[in-house]
Amino acid sequence: MKKKISIVIVVCSMVIISSSFIQSETQKSITRGKEVYGLYCQNCHMEDGVGMPEVNPPLAKADYMKRPSKDLINVILKGSTGSLTVNGKKYVGAMPAQEYLSDEQIADVLNYAKNSWGNKIPGVITPALVKAQRK
Ligand code: HEC
Repeated sequence: MKKKISIVIVVCSMVIISSSFIQSETQKSITRGKEVYGLYCQNCHMEDGVGMPEVNPPLAKADYMKRPSKDLINVILKGSTGSLTVNGKKYVGAMPAQEYLSDEQIADVLNYAKNSWGNKIPGVITPALVKAQRK
């Protein structure tokens, strides 16, 4: 009986420790992402993620940000030209490919955008996911 209880205690604390580990790793990624954003994205998408009317779409509260991770990664890696509809509004602009950023920088900046300016979009983007999209 005692043994069972201690096994339960060990398993529970392992779960708690590992989930707080994952959380703090995500938090670190978001913090690093803010820096990447300031250097490479802010010029067009603005500090508060609201973009510029008709040219640069918003990231803040943007329906586009809820797309699968793969789509978001592709916008960063390949850029986007032509037009994009975000929150029902059409933006005609050109986003240059940001493929010179490292896998980690791209994961970080997207994790930052998913968790800033009122966004709370689930799903952590890892450098491995970015790597898999590079072709
Ligand atoms: C030179 C200006 C410019 C820069 C720099 C830029 N973007 Fe964009 N971004 C755009 C434009 C313009 C579009 C829409 C493209 C289109 O019309 O096809 C866009 C689209 C997007 C989208 C998809 C639409 C949306 O609003 O969710 C995401 C996500 C995005 N950008 C993120 C980023 C991130 C992250 C960075 C920095 C690594 C970045 N952009 C750098 C101009 C820019």
